[in-house]
Amino acid sequence: MANPSRRIRILFVCLGNICRSPTAEVVFRAAAARAGLAHQVEIDSAGTSEWHVGNPPDYRATAHAARRGYDLRPLRARQVSAEDFARFDWIFAMDRSVLAELAALRPNGVAGHLGLFLDQAPDLGVSEVPDPYDGGPDGFEHVLDLIERGAEAFAAHLVARP
Ligand code: 4NP
Repeated sequence: MANPSRRIRILFVCLGNICRSPTAEVVFRAAAARAGLAHQVEIDSAGTSEWHVGNPPDYRATAHAARRGYDLRPLRARQVSAEDFARFDWIFAMDRSVLAELAALRPNGVAGHLGLFLDQAPDLGVSEVPDPYDGGPDGFEHVLDLIERGAEAFAAHLVARP
């Protein structure tokens, strides 16, 4: 039987684990704390690629997040693994191509939720957090805007759960 006192484990996944998913990790950690869930959740992030493993988040993601009070500096990139599907209750992809890669990696028979993060915030009307890596500053602000909305919605969802 599942242990009801076990923390809910949540993993955010993007391509590089240096822009969107580390942003989601830190923004959702703050939203969960505001919702009174700080001790009930375990939050992590990963990338589908190995390109940036061991690196800190992109300096632009770090700078834009810092202007809103989020500290990305302690994070280091890692690549998602098959074991993550057994460990995490919720695995959230930042866009459809990441979701497709995760679906292909996912072992048979795992019970956790795999989906697009922004589907937790249907009012937004968009399902993907666009990759900001090759764009300008507006892209990083847009990533933060979307992720803040998704984080509020998902924290509210967890609070409302029976
Ligand atoms: P992320 O952004 O998936 O949000 O971390 C990217 C980071 C790096 C690359 C692409 C997207 N890259 O091509 O190295």
